[in-house]
Amino acid sequence: MTDILFASEEILRLRSEIERHNRLYYMEAMPEISDYDFDKLLEKLVALEREYPQLVTPDSPSRRVGGTITKEFASVRHREPMLSLSNTYSLPEVAEFCNRLRKLLLLEGVQEQEIVAELKFDGVAVSLIYRDGLLVQGATRGDGVQGDNITVNIKTISTIPLRLNSALVTELQGESGEIEVRGEVYMSKEDFEALNETRPEEDRFANPRNATAGTLKLQDSAEVARRPLSFVAYYLKGLGDENTAHSSRLKLLERLEFYTGGHYRLCREEEEISRYIEEWTEKRWKLPYETDGVVLKLNDVRLWDKIGATAKSPRWAIAYKYPAQQATTELCAVLFQVGRLGTITPVAELKPVLLAGSTVSRSTLHNFDEIERLGLMVHDRVVIEKAGEVIPKVISVILEERPIDAEPIAVPVVCPECKSPLEKPEGEVSWYCPNEAECPAQIRGRLLHFASRNAMDIKTLGKALVDQLVEMKLVRDVGDLYLLQEPQLEGLERMGKKSAQNLVRALAGSREKSYDRLLYALGIRHVGRATARELAGAYPSLDLLRQATEEELSTVPDVGPIVARSLCDFFSNASAGLLVEKLKQAGVQVSAAGKPEQVNRNFEGISVIFTGGLERYDRQKASELVIERGGRVVGSVSKKTGLLVAGHDPGSKLDKALKVGVRVISEDEFEAML
Ligand code: IVH
Repeated sequence: MTDILFASEEILRLRSEIERHNRLYYMEAMPEISDYDFDKLLEKLVALEREYPQLVTPDSPSRRVGGTITKEFASVRHREPMLSLSNTYSLPEVAEFCNRLRKLLLLEGVQEQEIVAELKFDGVAVSLIYRDGLLVQGATRGDGVQGDNITVNIKTISTIPLRLNSALVTELQGESGEIEVRGEVYMSKEDFEALNETRPEEDRFANPRNATAGTLKLQDSAEVARRPLSFVAYYLKGLGDENTAHSSRLKLLERLEFYTGGHYRLCREEEEISRYIEEWTEKRWKLPYETDGVVLKLNDVRLWDKIGATAKSPRWAIAYKYPAQQATTELCAVLFQVGRLGTITPVAELKPVLLAGSTVSRSTLHNFDEIERLGLMVHDRVVIEKAGEVIPKVISVILEERPIDAEPIAVPVVCPECKSPLEKPEGEVSWYCPNEAECPAQIRGRLLHFASRNAMDIKTLGKALVDQLVEMKLVRDVGDLYLLQEPQLEGLERMGKKSAQNLVRALAGSREKSYDRLLYALGIRHVGRATARELAGAYPSLDLLRQATEEELSTVPDVGPIVARSLCDFFSNASAGLLVEKLKQAGVQVSAAGKPEQVNRNFEGISVIFTGGLERYDRQKASELVIERGGRVVGSVSKKTGLLVAGHDPGSKLDKALKVGVRVISEDEFEAML
């Protein structure tokens, strides 16, 4: 009895502490503890709840870690259809929308027209149902009438409250006892890039929206929990008769601790609308997430039903979409790149042209089918496009401007690097260089992948050095890296004694990297960071993994038949056996029994403050790095502040720091300290 009483108190304490840290991290971007310590708190809670299942509640933060495997998502019917919006790309059509609305309003006897302008977030629409303040259902839009019940996955998203502030709920919810919140699940640009970096090149997502949609569909909610999804709310329903203005509902959503982006604006004049659209045309590129337009909504919610909807979209709202940014330029040449897996990728060399704030001189053409589809010839004038933040692509040829010296693009029959005849496996669109063992481009690709940040993170091993190591035949596989000696390196171009020493030291240090990182670093087709982690859990050493059969491998979560096949192919190759032996000899962690990874304690006891924008880190990441290394991140400058990191456009904190004599460092110095 005392036990359960003690446990229940401890559970309550842990929950409130975890919720507090969640808030500090997500709402205030001011974490007080490291990710590691946060995970420890969560683990403690999960363990206690496992021991006392009668104490589990649906709003416990333990529900955010996922763990449920869903075979098939059940269908749910939406309370009211999730409509889409009619789109326009033209400002005159926006004016027409306003006129139409004004006429409809006059029929209702309303003179004034208030419109809320919001950003159009480029994510995946979901509906959340709260009953008596508790999140009971999360569903996708589906066909608008019925969607998939993805509650288990939704609960893993830290910015979605599992329980709403009860005082407000009692005041707000209607007789049904329900509140519905709609909004967009999305992935920030930075999180998207970081996630993609952990995935093998061949399995990368094209943009944050695809990554979000793919993640929400996953059947393993523990994997969803590991992916960095966020939520932005733009709709609230289930209230009494007050709060009939959409703008006050958005404010309410904020009081309920939902993120709204905060950029909506109440417009009374048409001119304010066009100013908002104009203003965000450029400003949106600086947002941490992708947007593709502006949504205009009538502010008076009472009129929504009266004005009604067509079969697909309401008449009280419209989406103005920003046109994709385009430019025309000349296709100077087509190069053929050879990837680490032998894939041949055609790359367009373009005459440099300015597009959406940056100069573009290259663009991937993906594969030869794409060249054919576009009907491309060298020296053609082409249209290139940048939609969102994605890398620009060639979208069409201006045939009328084809010059007389236009040349057909010769599809290579041999590898541009090693001259082996190319092969095209049945059913695939790509051509491959089959010379896995000897092709220098493939060797270079494997080395660079091995050294990359999410793999063994060997910063000193860059492209120029890898090129030389392969060319001089000093290294043929990643195992050879550990045999390199300083004197051999010193003779290389731009390699002094010091750099040679640094490289050998960095390589020696990389032996301590965890076994699951090594598994990823080997660059096995389709094995990303997440899959490597699962594999390391199921097969705690490379020797055990090598012996596993295809059937056995297929039973590991996250490993389907394709990945299992790819693993067996990799290990059945004679050179793989040799490589494993070399790595063992080198003392690399070839099993999970090795020592855990260490980070330095360079910020021990130091309180750090950030001001201005950093180029290479967002605030949250920078704070985490400091905390992991023993430091504290604080919000305001005092004499006790140890260090101020000044980014571009620093604020008043910099002046104050200088005044009270706090040490000020740049982003580069900060990085060096890390
Ligand atoms: S309101 C009936 N507001 O755009 C109107 N939608 O093309 C319901 N979207 O399905 C949607 N940002 O997925 C609304 N601020 C915003 C939005 C937004 C993005 C998406 C949403 C919707 C689609 C319509």
